[in-house]
Amino acid sequence: MSEPGIGNASADFVVVANRLPVDLERSADGTQRWTASPGGLVSALEPFLRSRKGAWVGWPGVPGVEVDPFSDEGMVLYPVTLTAEDVRDYYEGFSNATLWPLYHDVVERPVFDRSWWESYVKVNRRFAEASANVAAEGATVWVQDYQLQLVPSMLRELRPDLRIGFFLHIPFPPVELFMQLPWRAEIVRGLIGADLVGFHRPGGAQNFLWLARTLVGLEPSRGAVGVRSRPGLMQVGNRTVRVGAFPISIDAAGLDTLARSKEVAERAAQVRHDLGDPKTVLLGVDRLDYTKGIDLRLQALHELLHEGRVRPEDVTFVQLATPSRERVEHYQRMRSDIEQMVGRINGEFARVGHPVVHYLHQSVSRTELAAFYSAADIMVVTPLRDGMNLVCKEYVACRHDLGGALVLSEFAGAAAELTSAFLVNPHDLDGVKNALEAAITLDPAEGRRRMRALRRQVLTHDVDRWARSFLEALGSEPAA
Ligand code: ADP
Ligand code: F6P
Repeated sequence: MSEPGIGNASADFVVVANRLPVDLERSADGTQRWTASPGGLVSALEPFLRSRKGAWVGWPGVPGVEVDPFSDEGMVLYPVTLTAEDVRDYYEGFSNATLWPLYHDVVERPVFDRSWWESYVKVNRRFAEASANVAAEGATVWVQDYQLQLVPSMLRELRPDLRIGFFLHIPFPPVELFMQLPWRAEIVRGLIGADLVGFHRPGGAQNFLWLARTLVGLEPSRGAVGVRSRPGLMQVGNRTVRVGAFPISIDAAGLDTLARSKEVAERAAQVRHDLGDPKTVLLGVDRLDYTKGIDLRLQALHELLHEGRVRPEDVTFVQLATPSRERVEHYQRMRSDIEQMVGRINGEFARVGHPVVHYLHQSVSRTELAAFYSAADIMVVTPLRDGMNLVCKEYVACRHDLGGALVLSEFAGAAAELTSAFLVNPHDLDGVKNALEAAITLDPAEGRRRMRALRRQVLTHDVDRWARSFLEALGSEPAA
């Protein structure tokens, strides 16, 4: 496919997401630059869309800026402007203080605010209009994630000629929790504007089918939804809407190649050296989010140190935490709790020049991240709930040496695929401690066996396979 031109109604393939893959960063001196956007959605979709030379409609990450469409290495980016009020009410409010906690098992209490909902409707309409302007006749438009659940129906009204897909990157909640939402029927009606609604796991698809029956009176098919197979079907007017499960993944081959590079190997050795060459390096890599269970992995480590099951001179724990949603209250509270725990562990167990926990509230480059993954003996991924979790797959993709061990929460979507990890219930602190201890004392041959099995899964189920399976089911990609 040739590179798409910038202009109205010119793109055959359009991704619509809350964020563009790049954020506009403005410095105090007035200069500005584009940086990579945070989160798994961008990590997964960006390499795919680049190879497909599609268009991406999204917000440039700062309030109140108007930016013209521009080309970026094969993609054309179409910025959507959000005002400061939109950011407060649609993004921080309804998306991240209502839907985010509601869809993540109510780990924090969701806030139901009518003015936030009105803003969500208004901003979803703006995204639908922007997409309608960009898409060529008969184009495929792929709408992403919980911030834009009304876009499929709004877009279909504007452009009935389009093929519309929707994918939810976070968990779809149990029906009992979804039913708390005052605007539950509106959300379901918004989503059924798509030709295909995709979730990570069959359970999410099944929940959605039940809600479509109960809240909108549709008559969905009754068979069990499979993984990348047997989607549920519903008749909506003269259209058939499919509902399926498509577990997302990563650019596994790209990361494998990067991790094998001399630069990454040297940097990994340097990282271990800088950490004081401890016996065991434990690593956490997350957006700083209360769903990720960063606090409980710190608590588990604290107790292991306290009980003498782990010696402070033997272990170093590195937590990389990308700043996230910093003006939302739930996030502010969590950050201060975590920083207090880091201080407490180091206060009790560090020696001069040798902290036990290294906490970096920063984003690092892909090469640096690959070096951390390569340097870490144990990757600790303990979300209370996570749609998929790409970090654990990235770690596995980097371990071509078959070294390292993965401790993974059962409540991450990835647990269904990565069954050779040390799977833990993050609510069971003793279980987490036992798993950490088992990983620390793991027999190397057993570790290699586990890592080989994990790599077989990750390398054969990459993001390209995810995207192709979704688009095939949507009917816009020729069968492989
Ligand atoms: P989520 O989408 O909820 O943020 P995922 O685990 O699915 O969670 O994806 C997170 C993505 O962000 C991964 O690609 C990971 O590499 C990246 N990431 C997380 N923390 C950092 C960090 N401190 N620096 C750089 N990248 C990070
Ligand atoms: O799916 C996870 C997700 O919420 C994406 O939708 C989002 O782009 C990413 O995490 C990062 O979050 P935010 O855009 O709110 O910084």
